[in-house]
Amino acid sequence: MKVLVATQKPFAPAAVASIRQVIEDAGYEMILLEKYASAEDLTKAAADADAIIIRSDVVDAKVLEAAKNLKIVVRAGAGYDNVDLATAKEHGVVVQNTPGQNSNAVAELVFGMTVIAIRNMYDGTSGTELRGKTLGIQAFGQVGRNVARIAKGFDMVVSALDPFCPDEVIAEAGVNPVKTVNDLYLNNQFVSIHIPATPETKGSIGYDLIRLMPAGGVLINTARKEVIDEAGLMRALEERTDLKYVADVKPDNADELKAKFGHRVFFTPKKMGAQTAEANINAGIAAARQIVAYLRDGENRYQVNR
Ligand code: 3PG
Repeated sequence: MKVLVATQKPFAPAAVASIRQVIEDAGYEMILLEKYASAEDLTKAAADADAIIIRSDVVDAKVLEAAKNLKIVVRAGAGYDNVDLATAKEHGVVVQNTPGQNSNAVAELVFGMTVIAIRNMYDGTSGTELRGKTLGIQAFGQVGRNVARIAKGFDMVVSALDPFCPDEVIAEAGVNPVKTVNDLYLNNQFVSIHIPATPETKGSIGYDLIRLMPAGGVLINTARKEVIDEAGLMRALEERTDLKYVADVKPDNADELKAKFGHRVFFTPKKMGAQTAEANINAGIAAARQIVAYLRDGENRYQVNR
């Protein structure tokens, strides 16, 4: 069995070594494709793979057509908007993710970027603090829960909106459940976005929501750039000169936003939320183990394309 590890943005070397160990201990062969230049490289490498581990790498119909032996794709991470789930299903290919394995890393980056923003990019001017401030978490999944935990350490007042999570679960974490998205934006100076990119959520956060934020509002996006309506964001930042936007992975209109708003916006040049040795090791090993468990025993708990 051949397991292709295809990571345009490579895992830490220690993670690669651990993944190799799991795969080789199972008697399988690992093929490593890192920092590849084009989608074609992935398509070619996938041709004789039985299993593929990816990160944000795009597994589209072309890759799936080419990969005649493919049985399983594991996204080492949470979001799977980069995989053509329906075509995978048509080809009988199982798609899984590794929920929770990189969420602490993403949550820590939320605060890394937030502190940079409220300290004015460390430009020597007086900034502000997080203590006692309101934080609204949009979606209380694995990352949202870690964000809440860390926010408590900053002594923030934490609320969360998640229509798929019972209020009791949110309340048990010491977080105030919020009923509507308008309330989340209206009542929280800081809002951290953790919704997945789906047809329903794409472009769903725009002018109408962002303009509701209280004075000195900071919108933090470590989810996907696609959930933001970029024209609406631009308009809100133009009208509300007190607002800031920080994001892990830059929006399409990043240059324009930077030129117009300078230190009021911050973007990582590459998606960096999950880019820690710990998250790479956790997600990478989980992915390798899930492949072995599926190929050997049909264990399929984390399938996302049923
Ligand atoms: C995820 O969905 O798990 C995160 O966005 C991390 O993506 P990455 O593995 O490409 O860094």
